[in-house]
Amino acid sequence: MKMKKWLMLTGVMIVLNFPGPVVLARDRCVDCHGKQNPTLVKDWNNSAMAASGMACADCHGQGHTGSDDIDKAVRPAIHACKKCHEQQAEGFAMGKHGRAEEALAMAPMGKKIKAQAPEVFERSCAACHNGICRDGGQCDACHTGHRFSAKEARKPEACLPCHMGNHPQYEAYSNSKHGALYKSRGLDDTVPTCTTCHMSGGDHGVKTSWGFMGMRGQEPDVKKRADQKVVMEALEMLGPVLAPDSFRPDMAQWETKRTEMVEICAGCHTATFAKEQLKAGDRIVDQANHTAAGFINLAKKMKQSNQCSQEEYFWLIRDKMHAQRMSMYVDAFHQFPEGILLELIHFKRETLDLKKKISAGEKNKEKNNE
Ligand code: HEC
Ligand code: HEC
Ligand code: HEC
Ligand code: HEC
Ligand code: HEC
Ligand code: HEC
Ligand code: HEC
Ligand code: HEC
Repeated sequence: MKMKKWLMLTGVMIVLNFPGPVVLARDRCVDCHGKQNPTLVKDWNNSAMAASGMACADCHGQGHTGSDDIDKAVRPAIHACKKCHEQQAEGFAMGKHGRAEEALAMAPMGKKIKAQAPEVFERSCAACHNGICRDGGQCDACHTGHRFSAKEARKPEACLPCHMGNHPQYEAYSNSKHGALYKSRGLDDTVPTCTTCHMSGGDHGVKTSWGFMGMRGQEPDVKKRADQKVVMEALEMLGPVLAPDSFRPDMAQWETKRTEMVEICAGCHTATFAKEQLKAGDRIVDQANHTAAGFINLAKKMKQSNQCSQEEYFWLIRDKMHAQRMSMYVDAFHQFPEGILLELIHFKRETLDLKKKISAGEKNKEKNNE
């Protein structure tokens, strides 16, 4: 038995050492990097691409061969992968991930942070945005090197470092029934993960109906349009709404994305149930916009009566309205009941607080006038 194993191993080694330019290059790289970065090489040896006979040099080129020419090693981004994976590369570029760098570059909020605290900008904003989009696209944002696994990218953890906090999709999903099922069953076709709903059929062009902003170019309802206008103005000051492809410009494009989503849910639920669930999400978008518009109008009133400066107004909108408004519908669409309620309570508390400050200010004014 031991002898057989030994024979098989030597057999494999002979095949691997069989002279040929590509195999030799791989061995050279592994001679050094197998010692320097053994886990990197271990991951690569477990990958589908290694099994298909690819070599290190297929991505990194042949220019670097030792410690004095390190700068000649290619740092592969989307263009290196596109040679063999054109469909995924094109899909990626068409979706929002392919515009993440552009979105960051044009946001006034980004310019502000970049000018005031460039190190913070690099390690936060840019770590997420350029982390997925630098040099046109970083495919290893989800398919971590050097395992480059499709299965790993289907797990919600592949999205965790970026879709959290201010954009709390990971937290919302984790606290939902779907997330609970994932925790108990793991990756399984009965359990939807982020990519079941957002990259169906391996479509790499991520985009949703409402988008990050919860806005649409055409709002048929007059009252809802009025609320959206107030919110939109405040968001223009922060910047995100100016990002490329930030919202669907017309109802036809909004509906196309919605129909696709209903079809995905309907793979497991009835279409009627799915439509009603998504409409319930839309009603929370409306509620979030209405509540936020009330808050914004009070904040504006404070600014107009010089109770707060433009700078204070900026941070009031950023710190007390922006993320909380979005969280309300992010939580709704990802079925996190407690999250929705906590954001509503936040707005009630902050709105009362602003009202109190405004009426104290008015009383002071009256006193001064007497
Ligand atoms: C003689 C040893 C040696 C060989 C052979 C070698 N490398 Fe390296 N490689 C190094 C060293 C040393 C570094 C720098 C490590 C550090 O900074 O800690 C490096 C760095 C790298 C980097 C990072 C470059 C960067 O910009 O930071 C890549 C990628 C790389 N090697 C790939 C390869 C590939 C692919 C091959 C085979 C074609 C290869 N190496 C062959 C020693 C080697
Ligand atoms: C399918 C393409 C591909 C192949 C094949 C590949 N790599 Fe890489 N490698 C990458 C990517 C992508 C990065 C990350 C580049 C970046 O972040 O700019 C990387 C980074 C590296 C780094 C730098 C790691 C660090 O943390 O600084 C080294 C060293 C490296 N590769 C060595 C190798 C070796 C050795 C092999 C063969 C065993 C190999 N690579 C095969 C795509 C590949
Ligand atoms: C020289 C061609 C080539 C290049 C360049 C290349 N790949 Fe691949 N890749 C392949 C082949 C071949 C397979 C299929 C292996 C299979 O189906 O078993 C594959 C499979 C994959 C898979 C699926 C793995 C799985 O778990 O099924 C991923 C993900 C992947 N590649 C990512 C990348 C990324 C990211 C890059 C760039 C950093 C890249 N590839 C560059 C040829 C290439
Ligand atoms: C933790 C990762 C992370 C950090 C840090 C981060 N972002 Fe983002 N950003 C995202 C994600 C994820 C989205 C998309 C969220 C969504 O669609 O719900 C996004 C969306 C955006 C958008 C585009 C909105 C749109 O509709 O297209 C802009 C602009 C933006 N962020 C700017 C910034 C600025 C400026 C900073 C730093 C002050 C920053 N981001 C920090 C992850 C991050
Ligand atoms: C946002 C995360 C994410 C990014 C970024 C990403 N992928 Fe993927 N990729 C996935 C997921 C999820 C799958 C599995 C899809 C499925 O079959 O369910 C996948 C599958 C693949 C496959 C296997 C296809 C198949 O049919 O088995 C390849 C090849 C691939 N991706 C290449 C790329 C390339 C090239 C890039 C960069 C342009 C890239 N990916 C960027 C998430 C990502
Ligand atoms: C390295 C950070 C990063 C990772 C990892 C990442 N994303 Fe993103 N994602 C972003 C950023 C940044 C944006 C916003 C881009 C913009 O607005 O231009 C975004 C946007 C999106 C959008 C578009 C929402 C809209 O506006 O309509 C979806 C959907 C999405 N991501 C899903 C995923 C999924 C699913 C995963 C995991 C498989 C994932 N992302 C992994 C950073 C990331
Ligand atoms: C069961 C399906 C499903 C799962 C699982 C899911 N989402 Fe979503 N996601 C949705 C729906 C529905 C929307 C709202 C679509 C719309 O605009 O009509 C949405 C919206 C989004 C958006 C856009 C902004 C927003 O409203 O949140 C991003 C980004 C996003 N999801 C990322 C993720 C990430 C990351 C995960 C995993 C942690 C995830 N989603 C899990 C269905 C899902
Ligand atoms: C891959 C299968 C799958 C997909 C796709 C899927 N779900 Fe589910 N969903 C489930 C399962 C399984 C349950 C638990 C069913 C039960 O409790 O009987 C569930 C439960 C739910 C629940 C009930 C939560 C609770 O607390 O009772 C809602 C709401 C829901 N899904 C909405 C959606 C929506 C909306 C979509 C599409 C955006 C969707 N689901 C997509 C499998 C899926």
